[in-house]
Amino acid sequence: MRMLNSLSIPPHLVEVLPPSATVNEGGHLEIGGCDTVALAEEFGTPIFVYDESFLRARCREYKEAFASQAVPGTVYYASKAFSSIGMLQLAAQEGLCVDVSTEGELGVALRSGFPAERILLHGNNKSDAELDLAVGAGVGRIVIDSFDEIDRLHDLVRQRDAAPVACLVRITPGVDAKTHRYIRTGQEDSKFGLGVRNGQALAAVKYLATFDTIDLQGLHCHIGSQLFDLAGFREAVDVVVDLAAEASTAYGAPLHELNFGGGLGIAYTRDDKPVAVGVLARLLSEEILARAEVAGLQAPRMAVEPGRSIVGRAGVTLYSVGVIKELPGVAKYVAVDGGLSDNMRTALYQSEYETFLANRPEAELDSSARLAGKHCETGDVLLENAALPSDVRAGEILVTPATGAYGYAMANNYNMVGRPAVLFVQEGTARVVIRRETLDDLVSLME
Ligand code: LLP
Repeated sequence: MRMLNSLSIPPHLVEVLPPSATVNEGGHLEIGGCDTVALAEEFGTPIFVYDESFLRARCREYKEAFASQAVPGTVYYASKAFSSIGMLQLAAQEGLCVDVSTEGELGVALRSGFPAERILLHGNNKSDAELDLAVGAGVGRIVIDSFDEIDRLHDLVRQRDAAPVACLVRITPGVDAKTHRYIRTGQEDSKFGLGVRNGQALAAVKYLATFDTIDLQGLHCHIGSQLFDLAGFREAVDVVVDLAAEASTAYGAPLHELNFGGGLGIAYTRDDKPVAVGVLARLLSEEILARAEVAGLQAPRMAVEPGRSIVGRAGVTLYSVGVIKELPGVAKYVAVDGGLSDNMRTALYQSEYETFLANRPEAELDSSARLAGKHCETGDVLLENAALPSDVRAGEILVTPATGAYGYAMANNYNMVGRPAVLFVQEGTARVVIRRETLDDLVSLME
């Protein structure tokens, strides 16, 4: 038995860090066997660090949980959460499929060598170029989001004289998921999908049955993101199964494939209690079976598109602490060398995070400060109220955990700040999967 280290991750941080996180003998945060303070020194800050073994473990957990249900399930990794060649190669190696929502995400998947037949393309406003790239590459699924798209897709398949493309129809199930309104998508007032209550979804199925260029396989919905309450999934299953049964009977369309999108929440703070993947898989399978039996739908299959719950907890951001300002009687500001260029989530969704110092994770958090970035914008705040040691000083390495999803993915160049580098760490070795953006990269686009 291993002796309990006298140094350990404070209990409130255990669930927001990848499981390999520990405090090493030097008193530093270690992830994947790598000392994060040494990583910051070698590769610079800000930087995203992902635990590669945990990424793989999450892919496997999803694949196994869904494969083992009574209603068999396919798992598409939602690459919008974090798209890179390294990540997509990893997802492919672990046997997942992938969901892409733009030409860019599709291009990265194809260049990573991802098998085209395991790629699914979404989008509420797909361009002809996007559809044509998808048809030409032979992607496995296209998720139809509008009537206009049906006609354009038909023309493109005709022009290419390609085989019929396998499609799903994205529906708006009329479910109000409990989450921030910017990441709620299942309600009737949504730019995504075709409504069930207004009859457009059924009309689209009827219309699609007249095309020999489109092979309609099933239905798709996505109710929202960062969900802890599974009631919305249950409601969505009922709506989707009923619609599939009705459409199958009315138009002879065998709608067996039911895709419920992504949405499983993760812990950003000690107060978040995420639902296990296996619980979601079982709930979906059981509800589909029960409802299909009542509705008379034959042998359904399911699919899901998790993004955040695969990559979120695997990644952390490391920053260097810079200027510290005490405003007597007002606030204390601690500024780091990144901000809303590498994490838009606080500004957009008032998200909360834990934070601590990588060079002394066990230091007492005896004061509160506003954690700010380096951008010329008052709203450039990573944490309104960060608990930090009162003697925090410039040069220390500050960590924000659980930034693996929608962190790098939403990074930008505000104030001409280059995007950070991304590392995958495993068994004491770090590899750069995205290099840091330099001034040369930025000016290379300018005439
Ligand atoms: N499938 C569809 C059709 C989606 O629209 C999304 C997310 C997913 C799957 C993956 O959802 P996940 O499992 O990651 O919740 N930027 C926001 C999240 C936007 C989610 C957009 N769609 C954030 O940082 O919270």
